[in-house]
Amino acid sequence: MNKTDPNGAFRDAIVASKRLLRAQIPDLKDRFDRLTEEIAQEVSDVKAQRDRGECPVPEVDFSALAQVSDAQKDTIRRRGCVVVRGVFEPQQINEWNDDIAQYLTDVKYLERMASKRGIDQYFSALASSRPQIYSVYWSKPQMQARQSEDLATTRQWLNRLWQYTHDGQPVFNPDQELTYVDRVRQRQPGDATLGLSPHVDGGSIERWIDPGYRQVYRHIYGGDLAAYSAFDAAFRTETREIPSPAVCRMFRTFQGWTALTRQGAGDGTLNVLPIVKAIPWMLLRALQDDVADDDLCGAQAGRAMVVNPQYHSLLLDAYGPIPTVEPGDTVWWHADMIHGVEDAHQGKGYSNVIYIGAAPDCEKNRVFSDLQRAAFETGASSPDFAAEDYELGLSARATPADLTPLGRRQMGYAD
Ligand SMILES: [Fe+2]
Repeated sequence: MNKTDPNGAFRDAIVASKRLLRAQIPDLKDRFDRLTEEIAQEVSDVKAQRDRGECPVPEVDFSALAQVSDAQKDTIRRRGCVVVRGVFEPQQINEWNDDIAQYLTDVKYLERMASKRGIDQYFSALASSRPQIYSVYWSKPQMQARQSEDLATTRQWLNRLWQYTHDGQPVFNPDQELTYVDRVRQRQPGDATLGLSPHVDGGSIERWIDPGYRQVYRHIYGGDLAAYSAFDAAFRTETREIPSPAVCRMFRTFQGWTALTRQGAGDGTLNVLPIVKAIPWMLLRALQDDVADDDLCGAQAGRAMVVNPQYHSLLLDAYGPIPTVEPGDTVWWHADMIHGVEDAHQGKGYSNVIYIGAAPDCEKNRVFSDLQRAAFETGASSPDFAAEDYELGLSARATPADLTPLGRRQMGYAD
């Protein structure tokens, strides 16, 4: 076994899973061809839209959420992403943006990062070594944004785009969030260090080898291909991810962020591949005859699942920027949505965000919420990320006393 190969420990499981899946999909070749045709059509639709100067990412206004038509909702489900505009007042956002900058100073982030990583302080002050994503979890602006009533309304609306019951039982409660605590991005103009190539979070090889994930994709791996819906929550809360800093332990209906500054194409921000069924296509792609028995088109355990140009070039024409967003707009993408971050920030202003996704109340999320709440009380880093612990002992951080009743429920407090 090759020790440097992340799939080393999983080789037998990969081979066995591929054998099992191939055996249970007798029409594999035909099924893959049908899905390929469907995806090729989607790619060409998205590309045509971009060529016309339109953005394929749907948009809705926070103030008009209740009036969004079924047709618009279907478009959002097909594209797997949506910009919800105007969730927060720009003035509030500007205050938070300034307060987060101050908080990073109070934390002495750059100095402490340098000493933690054994880097000379002189070099730590150089622009090229400044981080662009900051591992702070408990600033007051982050906490205030998470417990905003308007954001709760937005996430309730997003959660309700899903089919959240299965066999008459609720899979999750769409109306109650459990906060998933994440970090902040402060990306400075000219930065070229942060680029992330197109990928999907929430597990890679698990989508083939984990029994929970195989159930999520049960209509892809056999049965009626047309019955598959990326918004069917059944079994989504029963997946088991290989532990890794790259994998979120909560079930999120949508990943997301709140814009703290204006940002659009060229500003070092998010790109998306707005075809939510691209992942099922990638799943069947790996089962084709030209892929080795122990290979899943390059998917690696414990890493984000990447679009591999060798196998997935069909998809790449659909990949491109989100629309320009203003402070207080929010951006959301489905857990199966391929996305990335532009390599270079060529714009003039900082592109800053607070990462806040939508993680509804369910058993899987409650288990993690308990661990997270313990970290909140001490000021430790979120247990889903490296234990950098910048905020331990910092008086400026948010504490339980800063939580509203909604914030308490979202952090999993019993009352
Ligand atoms: Fe990601």
